[in-house]
Amino acid sequence: MNIGFVGLGKLGLPTALAVESRGHRVVGCDPAESVRRTLRDRRLPYREAGAQELLERSRIELLPLREVVNSSELVFVTIQTPHEERFEGVTRLPQERRDFDYSFLRAGMSELSGEIERCGSDRTVVLVSTVLPGTLRREIQPLLGGRSRLCYNPFFVAMGTAVADFLAPEFVLFGCSDQSAADAAERFYRTIHGAPFYRTTMENAELIKVVYNTFISTKIAFANTVMELCHRLPGTDVDAVLGALRLGRDRIVSGKYLGGGMGDGGGCHPRDNIALSHLSRRLGASFDWFEAVMLQREKSTEWLADLVARHAAGREVCILGRSFKAESNLLIGSPALLLENILEERGRRPFSWDPYLDDPAALPRGRPLCYFIATRHPDFRDFPFERGSVVLDPWRYVAVRDGVELIRIGA
Ligand SMILES: NC(=O)c1ccc[n+]([C@@H]2O[C@H](COP(=O)([O-])OP(=O)(O)OC[C@H]3O[C@@H](n4cnc5c(N)ncnc54)[C@H](O)[C@@H]3O)[C@@H](O)[C@H]2O)c1
Repeated sequence: MNIGFVGLGKLGLPTALAVESRGHRVVGCDPAESVRRTLRDRRLPYREAGAQELLERSRIELLPLREVVNSSELVFVTIQTPHEERFEGVTRLPQERRDFDYSFLRAGMSELSGEIERCGSDRTVVLVSTVLPGTLRREIQPLLGGRSRLCYNPFFVAMGTAVADFLAPEFVLFGCSDQSAADAAERFYRTIHGAPFYRTTMENAELIKVVYNTFISTKIAFANTVMELCHRLPGTDVDAVLGALRLGRDRIVSGKYLGGGMGDGGGCHPRDNIALSHLSRRLGASFDWFEAVMLQREKSTEWLADLVARHAAGREVCILGRSFKAESNLLIGSPALLLENILEERGRRPFSWDPYLDDPAALPRGRPLCYFIATRHPDFRDFPFERGSVVLDPWRYVAVRDGVELIRIGA
């Protein structure tokens, strides 16, 4: 296929070389003198495994934008979205927070759209640059004419291994509302590898790209918390401890527990975290990770209580499920009870009921209620909610039905 790249920097050039290595004709444009020099001298100024060899035999041409548009079936945009140095993590975290700088991207996309309109036929514009969620609809889409079919396809490549990561990714993330544009991109990727092609909305793709990285940050922060504990606890060794956790391929290094819902519960998790917070304090650890985990659970439950208050609108609150997990009748450490306590603290008198603990005759009947599904018991999927009720479902599994307002939390 004929593939165009707008922006041939540290991401664009190595991935353009990777695309070319699979037999595609690649053209690109970039105003930077350094890029022109790199392509002329065939010398990469940065270390990128495998890219130098590809550059030495590359036929990638630098062309004016118009020619890139005219001769490309797909146009990838890899323009920088920079940040100030104080937001790079090399100094203490500033009080202020800022979004990325989209000025280069906006300018480049306006110019690109202008050329696409002039060329007179539709083009699939595949934006790759990193942005915060909501940016494409707010900042980029309004700049485009009717012939640009905008898609968001961030690459999950690491600097230094961009070529190999692009050629053999875990999956391709593709955010787009135009299915024919997504079909064209999927056909292109099938010429490169067989990795899953994950289609979603642009907004989801924007969020997935950044939280993917945050997940990695979270793992690293956790591992470093354990390292500090081990340094302070005689007889322990971080490599031995984390080596054991890495064997937890079913529950730890897996998709398990990676789903939005209530906080965790049971006889181990909350109490162990609270005890570890005590240990953290006793050892004088630099950061109490365990307190942070418990506070997130508490704040998230407070937020759910806010949602209950917002949607109840005068209706009585009925918490469905009291046990700490689905199909259990154990109450220990239950996040449902935490929610009930927070609602009571706020002056509400919620009624709570659990099919594995309580008498069905005790359920309030004959009036609309504000139900909150606190435990993911299968029984609640098709529960006979009273007409005129509102149902708050943090698991997004309750079946929709007439006469009931269903709030799927997180969707
Ligand atoms: N470098 C990586 O490994 C990597 C990985 C994932 C995501 N990203 C994201 O990709 C984007 C690009 O990153 P980078 O590291 O390649 O940046 P970079 O600064 O190295 O490259 C960007 C290139 O775009 C060019 N450019 C700017 N305006 C242009 C225009 N109007 N037309 C054509 N070219 C233009 C610049 O001259 C520059 O060469 C960023 O949003 C970054 O966060 C980078």
